[in-house]
Amino acid sequence: MFYNKTMALLEIKKYTDKSLKGKASPIGKIDVNIQHLIDDMIETMHAARGIGLAANQVGVLKRLCVIDTSLNEDRKSLIILINPVLVEKEGTVEAEEGCLSIPGYMTTIKRSEKVFVKGSNREGKSLEIEGTGLLARVLQHEIDHLEGLLIIDRISPIKREFFKRRYKKAFKEINSTK
Ligand code: NI
Repeated sequence: MFYNKTMALLEIKKYTDKSLKGKASPIGKIDVNIQHLIDDMIETMHAARGIGLAANQVGVLKRLCVIDTSLNEDRKSLIILINPVLVEKEGTVEAEEGCLSIPGYMTTIKRSEKVFVKGSNREGKSLEIEGTGLLARVLQHEIDHLEGLLIIDRISPIKREFFKRRYKKAFKEINSTK
């Protein structure tokens, strides 16, 4: 399938934008607008050197995310995931994590070590992904975004208070300049 449209970079919403706190709605028909959104999100993720991007992060509250753990643009690891559901998880592991919506902030997050996610691809065909390591982490991070959750919602209240004091003002300034 080909989608002929010039791709465009989207603005990545930053903390404290309210779209990051919203719960995304399921996608019904995968129409031409969704196809364009997918293309633009892939372009935006790669341009930002990200490994995952959820629709909430570009201000669209729909259950869609794109993931590419290859960290380059050969797109071999590109996953387009519509209406993802985490159906199984196993083990726990802690690792450093960041988010394109909270630039400059990294923190240790405890996640499941292995996950099994169901959803659909851009053609509407069902997709089943078993992820371990980095992929498992990104899948959980992106599904969190669709629920309106950020990495700072996954840290201890003390760490969150520290984050807010140190970073909230700075991010408000980032937002107000746009
Ligand atoms: Ni993120």
